Amino acid sequence: MKLAGKMFALIGLVASLGGAIAVTYFIGGGVSAKPQPGDLETFVARAVRDMAIVWHAPDQENPLPDTDEVLAEGRAHFADHCAVCHGNDGSGDTDIGRGLYPRAPDMRLAATQDLSDHQLLYIIENGIRLTGMPGFGTGTPESELASWPLVRFIRHLPDISESEIEEMEALNPRSPADVRQEIEEERFLRGEDVAPAEPATPAHVH
Ligand code: HEC
Repeated sequence: MKLAGKMFALIGLVASLGGAIAVTYFIGGGVSAKPQPGDLETFVARAVRDMAIVWHAPDQENPLPDTDEVLAEGRAHFADHCAVCHGNDGSGDTDIGRGLYPRAPDMRLAATQDLSDHQLLYIIENGIRLTGMPGFGTGTPESELASWPLVRFIRHLPDISESEIEEMEALNPRSPADVRQEIEEERFLRGEDVAPAEPATPAHVH
């Protein structure tokens, strides 16, 4: 066989082997998002992901000053856009965060805190392909500027206080039905002639 023929045969063999492994992986493990990714899978996925991000994200520190105002801006933004998956405390311990594959990580831990400022920014702006992490950026300097306070807030997560979490709870997105129910409860408590409304849909208990 000529060299080119041998090369094609080898490529074909490697491709079929890869395909067989992928088919076994999905058929054997199913496509359920429920199981926790294994240690090896997490290690390989994170290593590849981090290499790709380092490649694309130039080294740059947070250009914003380390002030209470910047932190407060990041905290409010996080409560509104991120907490649904990551939790106000960054633990990832939410209905959605726990159900994703891979899970929303506990961002208070070293694996996240060891990422550089610009790696964090890159992830927020671009998201992470094949995971539940959306890209929020528009590719403009304005969008980056709006995301830097989030980087500051993520750095602060290991020291977040109870009162900050309470403040965030008031900013977490609520459905119109929740808001209506709250207003009616307040009117009921003020003695106005209205019974507290039942939730529009039965509570989803897990
Ligand atoms: C729909 C769910 C969802 C939302 C909303 C979301 N994330 Fe994520 N995020 C994820 C998941 C899942 C991962 C884990 C991806 C992985 O393992 O590679 C992640 C990973 C990250 C990471 C990387 C941390 C690490 O150690 O891997 C950062 C930083 C991050 N998110 C920030 C944010 C910020 C800031 C927001 C809001 C602007 C946000 N995320 C909104 C699901 C979400």
